[in-house]
Parts: sequence; C-alpha cells; structure tokens
Amino acid sequence: MADQPLWHGRFTSSPAEALLKFTESLSFDKKLWRDDVAGSIAHVKGLAHSQLITAGEAEKIIAALNTVADEMATEKFEFVASDEDIHTAIERRVTQIAGDTGAKLHTGRSRNDQVATALRLWCKRELAHIAEFVLELCEVLNQRAIEAGWSTNSAYLPGYTHLQRAQPVLLAHHFAAHAWSFLRDVDRLSQTIERLDVSPLGAGALAGSSLPIDPDFVAKELGFADRFKNSLDAVSDRDFVAESLFDLALIGVHLSRLGEEWVLWTSQEFGFAVLDDAYSTGSSMLPQKKNADIAELARGKSGRLIGNLTGLLSTLKAMPLAYNRDLQEDKEPLFDSVNQVGLALQAIAGMIATAKLDTAKMKSSADSEMLGATDLAEWLVAKGTPFRQAHAHVGALVSRAIRESVELSELVRNDALLGAEAVDLLRAGVGVSRRTSAGGAGPVPGAVQSEALRSAITVMRARIASVVGSR
Ligand code: ARG
Repeated sequence: MADQPLWHGRFTSSPAEALLKFTESLSFDKKLWRDDVAGSIAHVKGLAHSQLITAGEAEKIIAALNTVADEMATEKFEFVASDEDIHTAIERRVTQIAGDTGAKLHTGRSRNDQVATALRLWCKRELAHIAEFVLELCEVLNQRAIEAGWSTNSAYLPGYTHLQRAQPVLLAHHFAAHAWSFLRDVDRLSQTIERLDVSPLGAGALAGSSLPIDPDFVAKELGFADRFKNSLDAVSDRDFVAESLFDLALIGVHLSRLGEEWVLWTSQEFGFAVLDDAYSTGSSMLPQKKNADIAELARGKSGRLIGNLTGLLSTLKAMPLAYNRDLQEDKEPLFDSVNQVGLALQAIAGMIATAKLDTAKMKSSADSEMLGATDLAEWLVAKGTPFRQAHAHVGALVSRAIRESVELSELVRNDALLGAEAVDLLRAGVGVSRRTSAGGAGPVPGAVQSEALRSAITVMRARIASVVGSR
C-alpha cells in the first residue's frame, strides 16, 4: 500500500486531500534528507549493536539508505503522494528497496525523536556556516580598519551621538566597533551549538522503549557531545530553534544598524563612501541614481528575522508535553532565517570590501572646531578646574561663537582661562590623537585594539571549529 501513509494501520479509510495538503511538511523539510539519513544509519547500527537486528540486516538497510542518499543528491528520488515529510519518504523508499528487512528500520524509534535528531544535526552544521560568514565579515571590517590605519596620521571621521557630530574618532575604530559586535554573535552561535549538541535519539515517541536500544551508542555515532536525560523533554524541546532564531535575529539587527550607516554614508549629504557598481543598483526611471539596496535590504530584512523568532516563541508558549504537531512550525522560520542571514552577510561583506571611502570628506566633517569643545573642558580640568565649571565655561564660549558667528578659536585665544595655548587643541587632527584612554578612539589605544581584534577573530575561528568537531 505504497500510496497510504506509514501510519495507516489503525485507519479504515484513506486520508482526505485537505488533510494531506494542510499537514504535509515535505515541501519544506526535504532539506533535512542528509541529516535524516545520518540519523537512520546511526539508528540501524544501534539496532545491530543491541542485537535487535543481525549484522547482515543492518548492512542491507544501510545500503538502502545510501542508495536513498545517492538518489537525493542526484535529484533522482521519486516522491509519492503519501510522503508527508522527508522522514516518511525515506523510510518508505528503504522498505521498497530492502523489503521486509527495510521494514525493521523504525524499530524502537518514533518520528518524534527522529525529527528532533535531524533538526539538531542540521542546526549544528548550518549555524557553523553562518558563524563562518560572520567571521568573513569580521575579516573584511578588520581589513578596512587596517587600510584606514590605526596611527597618528590615519583617517578619522566624526563620531556621532544622536546622529549629531560629537568627537572625532579613527575610521579604524569605527570599523572595529562593528567587528566586535559581530564577534559576540559568533561567540553566541558557538554557545548555542554547544547547548544543542545533545542527541534526542532513543526518546521514542515520548517515553523511551521496552526494547534494549542504546541512546549513548547512537549519540556517539552521530558525533553528539551528549544524549538526552529525559525523553519527554527530548522530543518536545525546541529551545535550540528559538535560540538559533534569536542569534540570527540579533545578527540581523547588527546588519541593519550597519546597513543604515551605509545608506547615510553613501548619500550625497554625507558623501563618505561610494559603492562599487557590482554592489549597487540603479533606478528604473531616474538615470543618475546609484542606490545602496544591499544596505537597505539588510535593514529591511531584520523585521522578518525578528518576526521568525517571535512567531516560534508564540507557537511554543502553550505547548503541553510532549510532541504536538504544532512543533512542525519550527522549520520554516528556521530555514528562512538561516538562508536570509547567510545571503545578507555575504552581500554586506562584498559591499564593504569593495566600496571606495572618501576619507577627505570624513576628515573635513570631523575638523569642525566645535568637535574640540570637550578637549577644551578637559584641558581646564587638567589645570585644576572642576569639570562642571569647565563644561559651563566652554559651553558659554560655544554659545557666544554661534550667536556672534565667530570662530570658537578666536574666543578661546582671548579667553582669560584658556588662551593661546588652548587654541592648539582645536587644530585639525589634534582631537582624535587626544583620545588616549584604554579602548578609546585614538591611535594610542588603537595600537592595542588592533592586536586584540586580530587575535579575537583567530580565537573565534578556533572556537567554532572546536564546537563543530569532526562533523
Ligand atoms: N513532520 C513532522 C514534524 O516536522 C514529523 C513528526 C511527526 N510526528 C507525529 N507524531 N505526527 O514535526
């Protein structure tokens, strides 16, 4: 009865078309085939290890599973109408190839532990890929920082608060700021991978099995770091999907912030960067336009990534133990977020790597005397004036300069407390060099930071390699 679902035994009539269409997941869970085959091979080895099947039977089923894998890889696998998901499709085909022996594949197993196993294997591999893409972006940011320079004569631009020019910062420091946030994303992914690296195989439908299966054996076979401790939890836990979606949403938010800056930087109003033609788009109507669509979409897609996370959390929130079909809703948001974040990371990395920066424009925007106001106040502090008084004194000079349309330096030169010596603080390029404290935006702490960033990227690469292990 190849055209009946695998569970048809207790039913007397065939499933309705509407049921099949509404409940199927094959259309989106096909991509789990590799992980389902891996899980099934481990399971079969486990059955032989526990002497539930003979070595010969195991060989025959594993050969059928390998045939399925070949058919999947070459897109020759023929699906039938009753294949409701990838797991039933593979088992159906194995039974077709290996006959009664194939029918032993599902011994001591349920789709509930099977699907959780496949999804954890998939996450482990795909999150590691995402981490590698994030690290590539960190490399690009680090490279651009090195090009911008970390020393006294290096490029600088205005640092902003409230999108108002605040103080000059090294351009390298600005690039590095984004790199540090992406490195935390890699760290978070590594921890998520570590936490999800637990095999649920052997939990059965919800309560384990009366057969002498060996969950430790299959966990080891699959390269998991550990096995489940509670079968109810094993089949119902989707924390790992929610966590993955959170990590991806936060990467999306980081990309969105970066994207927003590049939309500004490439505007004529800022004029800090010009995109390479290969990484920008035109307008269908306005011939002169060159748009930063990658940056805009990185910003736009963050909404969808946050939606995928909140959608799944809403699905999970009222779920009684253990498996419920609602859990099938974990896959589409997960696959979508992994796909979108992977594409966004690669596009943004290419866009930043190839853009031309107008460091002269950045410099002239940062050379406004007003950006040195804090240095004047700190200079007074160094001479013994309490900071609040120094702030008020400089604030009054700034206000007068604006009111009377005179240069701040003129007022400083003639000021009794400040005077000619303090005028030097307002000269172009001086402000950024005075950001000397640890972690600050100037060249002195920059020399330390550039080294720290380089080694943090190396450490994170090793971390990802170690949590993914030999798989
Ligand atoms: N396609 C289902 C899912 O993704 C597989 C598990 C179905 N289990 C069940 N007892 N109906 O969750």
